[in-house]
Amino acid sequence: MSTRFSAALREATWAEHERAESAGFMRGLLAGDLPSGAYADLTAQHYFAYRVLEQAAESMRGDPVAGPFVFDELTRLPALERDLHHLLGDDWADRIRPNTATQRYCARLQEVCFTWPGGFIAHSYTRYLGDLSGGQAIRGTVERTFGLTDGVGAEFYRFPGIPRPREFKDDYRGRLDGAPWSPDEQGRVIDEVLEAYRHNTDVLVELGEVHGSGT
Ligand code: HEM
Repeated sequence: MSTRFSAALREATWAEHERAESAGFMRGLLAGDLPSGAYADLTAQHYFAYRVLEQAAESMRGDPVAGPFVFDELTRLPALERDLHHLLGDDWADRIRPNTATQRYCARLQEVCFTWPGGFIAHSYTRYLGDLSGGQAIRGTVERTFGLTDGVGAEFYRFPGIPRPREFKDDYRGRLDGAPWSPDEQGRVIDEVLEAYRHNTDVLVELGEVHGSGT
């Protein structure tokens, strides 16, 4: 089979991508229909997930398989902290909590991203390639809807260290193609990406329920 792994991965997971993308909360966000509290809550849920994912990145930095997927220019946690500070004030850390779906998502990240390179890569791929794709469409709407001038409050969506996202994504896909995985291991990585999408959709569905923006 000559299909590149990155293409097979995308193909096998695109239906789950569509589910995540079409969650009512996402549609509401993109349509500029959500109140700023809902946006702050989304930012808070991101904060909890990236805190675990980026701790895992630190522990995977020296791993021969996962190390090439650790990029400082992807790191989101400092931007999320600044966004939350802007949106919620000095006491932002006391005012946020992970929703039930985020707690489950974080438990999964904790379980697979620290000891299994393929698990770390599956979850990193799902978040960061998404942030560099759909996230760039969300950025403009969020900045306009909530009057976030110069991106302050929406820094999460800006990657100053990645001026050309398309090239970055192509390079990332090349690394996926070059990873030394057997067909079995490739299958496990695909399954974990499916799992990652499901967690992300669950987080969005719960946000939709809490903020009354559909499912
Ligand atoms: C309104 C919401 C969204 C929109 C409009 C959107 C849109 C897109 C588009 C247009 C691409 C293709 C980009 C390319 O080929 O370079 C893409 C890729 C991707 N998106 Fe989304 N997306 C959304 C939500 C999400 C969510 C919630 C996730 C998961 C957390 C996600 C994860 C991904 C991933 C991993 C890719 C890369 C797929 C690949 O090429 O291998 N997206 N998205």
